[in-house]
Amino acid sequence: MDEAKEVTDIFALSSAAHYLKCFNLFQKKSGQLEKNAEILQEHIPPIIQRIIPDSVGQTLNILSAGSGDGKIDMMILKIIEEELRKSNHDRHMKIFNRAIEPNEYMCGLYKAVIENLTSSPDDRNTKFEIRRQTFEEYQGSHKGATKKFDIIHFVHSIYYVDIEQTLLYCFEKELSDKGFVICIVDFEGIISPIFLKQIKLWPVEDAVRKGHETAEKLITIANENGWKHEVYTHEYELDVTDVFDPRSTEGNLLLDFLTQTVNYREVADKKLVEETLALIKDLSIERDGKNFGEKKESLVIMYK
Ligand SMILES: C[S@@+](CC[C@H](N)C(=O)[O-])C[C@H]1O[C@@H](n2cnc3c(N)ncnc32)[C@H](O)[C@@H]1O
Repeated sequence: MDEAKEVTDIFALSSAAHYLKCFNLFQKKSGQLEKNAEILQEHIPPIIQRIIPDSVGQTLNILSAGSGDGKIDMMILKIIEEELRKSNHDRHMKIFNRAIEPNEYMCGLYKAVIENLTSSPDDRNTKFEIRRQTFEEYQGSHKGATKKFDIIHFVHSIYYVDIEQTLLYCFEKELSDKGFVICIVDFEGIISPIFLKQIKLWPVEDAVRKGHETAEKLITIANENGWKHEVYTHEYELDVTDVFDPRSTEGNLLLDFLTQTVNYREVADKKLVEETLALIKDLSIERDGKNFGEKKESLVIMYK
């Protein structure tokens, strides 16, 4: 496991509620959730149309890896349910959604979302299973299982696992023959250089270059294994204005998220804090008295 994964794992898994506060704030300042919903809304329906002919009358199986508090899963399920409804398959096809999420706090929120659904569990077309474990633990605990998944998705979560091993496992053991692996990953933009600065990957050019790697890595692995793939990229902005105000609660939460460190401004080396803030300023543009960083994402769809 490389250094970047160690730092990230510690923050996402051990800081539970604080991590979610930071993540929610980051989503508010970037509109990431809505942007993810848009790109998924555009590209999931055609996938469902490709899956339907082989699945009529059967259950559509979805595996969500690193599902967080379940918000994005609910959006994906809504898109799928709507597509089944539009093509009159909603009565003949059920959905099974398995979520893998190691953060206990997130699992609790996910369960609450399911409990608050208006329909009763027996009437629901979609059945849920939440497993509180890492994807690595899931693989270990899951040998010999026969269920095959039509969609396996990693929305901003493939960074936390060994990408090649995980994809090979998914393609060999979990994906149905006509199934799709869907990943959303950051691609260039302001995020990775700030994070990589924390693990002393310097100069910035190296960090920026490394920021390209996740999407490229997915494509290289797909090519090496003869999997088909489609890549869609979109861009939007992250409002970083508040990080420059030391008294701003939101600014400090955003800084914690960007550096993957609890209470970064207080606990990090002062020189590193200064350099990181200078880097954020450098990587952002000023407009109407605010600072915005570029946020780029790729949706990578892979299939056999
Ligand atoms: C950036 S969040 C994304 C959550 C959700 N997919 C979304 O887009 O809102 C990444 C999630 O991956 C989870 N995670 C971290 N390490 C993991 C691992 N080894 N296996 C599975 N999930 C992991 C974290 O707990 C966190 O909830």
